[in-house]
Amino acid sequence: MTTIGILEGSLRRASLSRAVARAALALVPDGVQAVALPNPGSLPLFNQDILDEGMPDAAAALIAALGNVDAVLIVTPEYNWSIPGGLKNAIDWVSRVTPTPLARKPVAIWSVSPGLLGGARVHESLRQTLHCMDMVIMAKPEVQIGGAKDKVDVEAGAIVNAETEAFLRGHLSTFDAFCKSWNRA
Ligand code: FNR
Repeated sequence: MTTIGILEGSLRRASLSRAVARAALALVPDGVQAVALPNPGSLPLFNQDILDEGMPDAAAALIAALGNVDAVLIVTPEYNWSIPGGLKNAIDWVSRVTPTPLARKPVAIWSVSPGLLGGARVHESLRQTLHCMDMVIMAKPEVQIGGAKDKVDVEAGAIVNAETEAFLRGHLSTFDAFCKSWNRA
């Protein structure tokens, strides 16, 4: 049984990508468990002075939750062609334990945007950071959910476009196979 932890890149309540992340919990294939990881909004801004006093509870909770999953799915918007600061901040906190619970774990990225490109440009910058975490990135097939306002019901936390939902289900099956092949290697 693969357990996939879903990490959200947006902090806001009415977030399109958070709604997709919530929907993803129910889209995993049989034999896969999906769990929501703590939202990065619960973490303070990284500051070595804080860490010198001890790992903050919120960061420790995220680190512990990551330790309990086999793989990570990141569902995120793109901010200024790059990683939203809250998500980068969460990764920075998690990187401060040795070994980081991200290391050698499979990871996939879904970007979400109301724009046509679907946040395509966040993938490259996020992959750079995930490489630094020594994660095992499933680079393809890529998932960029563009025009998300028409595809997502934020209140319900649901995908309302059947084609998108089917594509995401398929992607999770492919990711599960990727995780299993990695674990066998
Ligand atoms: C954005 N947005 C955005 N969209 C995009 O496709 N590419 C981009 O580079 C950016 N840059 C950007 C920067 C900042 C600071 C903000 C606040 C927004 C728009 C963004 O996709 C839109 O606000 C989404 O709805 C944010 O995602 P959530 O919170 O709905 O998941």
